[in-house]
Amino acid sequence: MPDKKAPTDHPVHPLIEARWSPYVFADRPVPEADLCSLFEAARWAASSYNEQPWGYIVAAKGNPAQYEALLSCLAEGNRLWAKTAPVLVLSVVNLKFARNGKENRAAMHDMGLAAGNLVFEASARGLSVHQMIGILPDRAKEIYAIPEDLEAYTGLAIGYPGDAAGLPDALKERNGKPRQRKPLRDFVCGGKWGDPSPWVLKKFASE
Ligand SMILES: Cc1cc2nc3c(=O)[nH]c(=O)nc-3n(C[C@H](O)[C@H](O)[C@H](O)COP(=O)(O)O)c2cc1C
Repeated sequence: MPDKKAPTDHPVHPLIEARWSPYVFADRPVPEADLCSLFEAARWAASSYNEQPWGYIVAAKGNPAQYEALLSCLAEGNRLWAKTAPVLVLSVVNLKFARNGKENRAAMHDMGLAAGNLVFEASARGLSVHQMIGILPDRAKEIYAIPEDLEAYTGLAIGYPGDAAGLPDALKERNGKPRQRKPLRDFVCGGKWGDPSPWVLKKFASE
């Protein structure tokens, strides 16, 4: 397995440091109890007005027909590698408030928070999640009869990270690429947009 530990500038939780998005998964099923815990973690995410605008369609390799149907809702480039994941998920978001049909401007934010919880719980269980915006929402809508105000928004490939040896070169490279991020000074601002907060430029004794 490549060492993909985040080279952080400040200390963070070890699970945040360790998480990464693999392009190949091991041929090993995910226990159903662990899957339940992943969605339980998503369930307890905060959401605006406690609306919980998220929903999921899940398919495991153990049910080939359901698995193939869900795989067919991923963009071709993602299908190439996501087909190794033992579990595939479509995240579905309700863009309107269930109680009054008005637009919920926080819906996508809340779905992302739920995804964050799910991914964290997965990391704690030795599982990896590779999220995908590259899906075919219209196809998903048709296959799963998703109601009008709801949209399939992202895909999740879930499993244990696998051996990259058999991957095509381009994917092998992506799989092994060191993880990079912008520094805090590029996105944590003070007086005005673009001016870094002074404390993000400091080094602290604990570091
Ligand atoms: C909402 C979202 C959508 C993403 N969509 C794709 C995708 O369609 N295909 C893909 O290969 N990776 C996708 N990714 C994975 C990102 O490319 C990856 O998280 C990023 O490069 C950082 O790498 P890391 O997760 O290993 O730290 C997505 C990630 C997120 C959070």
